[in-house]
Amino acid sequence: MKGGNYTSLGTCSGINVSGNVAGTRKMSLGKSIKMYLTIFILTTCIYMALYQYHISREPFAASEVVKHQEKSSSYIASYLWSPISLLMANSSSNTNNNSTTTSTTTTTAPTTPTTTTTTTVGSVGQKLGASSISSIRMVSLAATIPSFKSTLSESRSVSLGGHQKTATVKTSTTITTRTTASGLATTKLSATTRTTAKASAKLSAATTPTASHMENGYKTRPTFVAASLPPPLYIITPTYRRPEQLAELTRLGYTLKHVVNLLWLVIEDANKTNPLVGHTLDRIGVPYEYMVAPMPEKYKQTKKAKPRGVSNRNRGLEYLREHATEGVLYFADDDNTYDISIFEQMRYISKVAMWPVGLVTKTGVSSPIIQAGKLVGYYDGWIGGRKYPVDMAGFAVSVKFLKERPNAQMPFKPGYEEDGFLRSLAPLDDAEIELLADECRDILTWHTQTKKNAPAQALNRTRYKNTNLEHIDRLLVRP
Ligand code: UGA
Ligand code: MN
Repeated sequence: MKGGNYTSLGTCSGINVSGNVAGTRKMSLGKSIKMYLTIFILTTCIYMALYQYHISREPFAASEVVKHQEKSSSYIASYLWSPISLLMANSSSNTNNNSTTTSTTTTTAPTTPTTTTTTTVGSVGQKLGASSISSIRMVSLAATIPSFKSTLSESRSVSLGGHQKTATVKTSTTITTRTTASGLATTKLSATTRTTAKASAKLSAATTPTASHMENGYKTRPTFVAASLPPPLYIITPTYRRPEQLAELTRLGYTLKHVVNLLWLVIEDANKTNPLVGHTLDRIGVPYEYMVAPMPEKYKQTKKAKPRGVSNRNRGLEYLREHATEGVLYFADDDNTYDISIFEQMRYISKVAMWPVGLVTKTGVSSPIIQAGKLVGYYDGWIGGRKYPVDMAGFAVSVKFLKERPNAQMPFKPGYEEDGFLRSLAPLDDAEIELLADECRDILTWHTQTKKNAPAQALNRTRYKNTNLEHIDRLLVRP
């Protein structure tokens, strides 16, 4: 009779076990198997627990953030892998066992936009000596990553409720993160979390991990994701007073709001700034400088075509020569349409870049012609003897390159503004012109034109005295 006890069960093979059962001891086969399974399961559980502890101490690589998002459909995977869900699970188990986490995606992301945005903004403020850094900081946090702002406020409201009482919280968040130095990579993370908990300190800990550690003695290292700054963009927008002005600036402004590290130079063809324009720009929340540069009187008087937006753009160039050191400049008329991917492409150019512009002349598009990867000419309904028959919306110039050409500027010559400016950048070899928008096979900017609206008719002030119309009236352009 060999030892058919628990010890031998743990150490012997199955054959030995069955041998023992055959012996005189009364242990049934069923019991032995049960015992074996119990020990196996216990061992597995201990192993898993140790493994999870080990994993929770590993920092995430940036690439893993994306991987985890793919796992979001699996409750188990996301629950086990996400630091925020660990925190929340911790909080829930302390307080309420009914808590359920229906779907949680990796939320290491909130730390990423925080880092990126703060650095970006600080840098714009410093480099450009623009208006107060603190106001730009505020604006940009809201401006560049709006959905992130909403995450923060949701977290905050959770915290407030949580301190007082048990609260049921449902958050649904989309976080848009520009993760890498390339600026091209955009990671979108979505997180839907439902929990019932005194989530206060622990949920807010998701955005401020250090505080949470101090409060709860929770020993996860804060996640660090390296993020560097993409080159700055300087968008020079000429504008002038007309019924459509605020509408155009609003539309363009909200396009630019999707682009990080951008300074919007809004320059009005006027003798003084208009508070209504300033107010509109403030409300949009894109970092901006608002300046004036009136068209010289002699051009205003002329019956012929006027050099529109030229004094404005030259004022923008002057500003850049004084304040900018790197990055890229782009002339964005206030009435055109821009796909934001063109901004991410133009950031990295070294001298000059060109691409097609839709809705230009009878050809429907103005574009460089590319053959075998080389610029061989230009397609445009009006060539007019121009060396560079391109539209204003179809090229960008590096700031460094501009500053190496101190005399470069735009001529007051209707129809030849783009050509004159590009010529003034000489020497510039055709081979040095970078071709964006999929080597000019795509259209990412359009020369849209807003229908001209007649100035609003006068308001009957007696009839509408003390009504909202008196306020609206101040926003309208009169003849
Ligand atoms: C076309 C081109 O697309 C422009 O790039 C070019 O500057 C312009 O012609 C021109 O050379 O005249 P278009 O749509 O005809 O553009 O011109 P607008 O959109 O009326 O004006 C171009 C820019 O200049 C706009 O941003 C506009 O706000 C501004 N502008 C226009 C002024 O600042 N002052 C004016 O009196 C008129
Ligand atoms: Mn236009």
